[in-house]
Amino acid sequence: MSNTHNLFAACSTVNECLKLRDELNNSGEIAEIKKQLATATSEEKKLFGKKMNELQQEIRKVCDEQIQRIQQEQEKDNFLPYDPTFSSSNYKKVQQGNLHPITQITKELVSIFSDFGFDVADGPLVENQWFNFTALNTPDYHPARQMQDTFFLKNVDENGEKLVMRTQTSGVQIRYGSTHKPPFRIICPGTVYRNEDMDATHDINFHQMEGLVVDKNISLAHLATLLEQVFTKLYKTAITVRMRPSYFPFVNPGVEVDISNPFQHDASSKLYGQEWIEVLGAGLVHPTVITNMGLDPNEWQGLAFGFGIDRMVQLKFKISGITQFYNGHLEFLQGGE
Ligand code: DAH
Repeated sequence: MSNTHNLFAACSTVNECLKLRDELNNSGEIAEIKKQLATATSEEKKLFGKKMNELQQEIRKVCDEQIQRIQQEQEKDNFLPYDPTFSSSNYKKVQQGNLHPITQITKELVSIFSDFGFDVADGPLVENQWFNFTALNTPDYHPARQMQDTFFLKNVDENGEKLVMRTQTSGVQIRYGSTHKPPFRIICPGTVYRNEDMDATHDINFHQMEGLVVDKNISLAHLATLLEQVFTKLYKTAITVRMRPSYFPFVNPGVEVDISNPFQHDASSKLYGQEWIEVLGAGLVHPTVITNMGLDPNEWQGLAFGFGIDRMVQLKFKISGITQFYNGHLEFLQGGE
């Protein structure tokens, strides 16, 4: 009967086994016996009957064995992921991820600013020239555009305005200001782009945080106090600010803000010994910008500021270059340089 074994061994499902069993029960020697039974004597019938029984039992046995094998195989497949012999020590320790340093500082700043009543606003990364430049008091011919060379798209928007990868988050001032009723306070964290030669401190994309307050009787004193409080919270040490006159087309007066160096006495810092560090540009919102928001500059004033988040991350984590920010090296992302 080894032929029977071979036939069943070729079956891969229970149904195939049952079908083969029926076929074998009606063919070959069994079919032969069934034929002869019709004309056999009663003595012969006994013998034939016994033989047929043996043959059928053999078929059933081989069939049952194959069905069992198939079912065991199926169970093994189902069981595979839960192999009880597998100890947890066989697993390689899974490395836990963490937020990128830029995301960590952005979240921290958002949380600090929200304590001062600031909402988070957003704007598109592909911006039209009106929001990125013109409405910010930087018309076509303005030399300030030169300082922010960026990537220009071939497309124009629905009003025929040229599109650029935004060079600054300042455009969100206009987007938000022209759609919300003052008084309001917003920050806008986000990626910006510049056509830069890349080196340790320059990249073609980086992150800024814009701040805008529109209210009545706003002065530079509000700006100084706000920034002192924010940086004191961020660096967890008392920070004072110093302002130097500067020029940005969308503010008047415009200032460059330095903060007292939180690492002045930290010998491990590259900033050791330095009294001030330059961190941001700011000022009182230019009346033209207030007008471009659709507001009356005689009624509303504002303060605005913008800084590089990447720089804040560098200061906080004592990172010298910014090229590591985007190279994805795990060691850097886990806090080492
Ligand atoms: N947008 C400026 C830049 O990218 C930074 C800036 C300066 C933002 C002064 C401001 C501001 O809101 O008042 O260089």
